[in-house]
Amino acid sequence: MIVRPALESDFPSIVRLDALSNPHPWGESLIADALQSRKNWVIESAEPVLDTEPSHILAWLTASQTFDQSELELILVDVAVRRQGLAKKLMVAWLESFSKGDVSEYLLEVRESNLGAIGLYESLGFELVGRRKNYYKTEQGHEAACLFTLAV
Ligand SMILES: CC(C)(COP(=O)(O)OP(=O)(O)OC[C@H]1O[C@@H](n2cnc3c(N)ncnc32)[C@H](O)[C@@H]1OP(=O)(O)O)[C@@H](O)C(=O)NCCC(=O)NCCS
Repeated sequence: MIVRPALESDFPSIVRLDALSNPHPWGESLIADALQSRKNWVIESAEPVLDTEPSHILAWLTASQTFDQSELELILVDVAVRRQGLAKKLMVAWLESFSKGDVSEYLLEVRESNLGAIGLYESLGFELVGRRKNYYKTEQGHEAACLFTLAV
């Protein structure tokens, strides 16, 4: 398994990962935009799974940067390889990617019901600093967004 910055050629593999493993898929246009305008990392499996595939992407993280803040936009791991530490590896790649002093705060928002992701963020030292009521749509109605930050 290799953790590396995403390449333009990863686009089809990321689209497939999003379609198969994201409970709220982003779709091609948001993914293309993220690959062009944000910082992106992927985890690639050592062996291609299909002959037709140039790479097999097991996980993807995309984050933006505004001045001295960097915000996680999405982290996504293939359902077949969850709870093996892949998300943690990508989070560490993101957190360690900035030179000292470039970023003083990391931010993220997550659905209140996403206890797995919340466990991941808390294990890395993120702290809950706010809550936006009814921020995300659900099948039944709405749910809150929890805002987490990590200061460096
Ligand atoms: C959330 C997500 C990225 C976690 O990926 P993962 O590779 O399975 O996470 P890791 O194996 O690195 O987990 C690291 C730690 O996070 C916590 N964690 C991760 N998934 C968890 C779950 N389902 N339940 C409880 N804790 C969980 C645990 O503390 C875990 O450590 P442990 O396995 O030693 O107990 C993955 O479930 C996913 O892609 N979900 C769908 C997309 C999503 O919700 N993204 C987050 C919002 S942007």
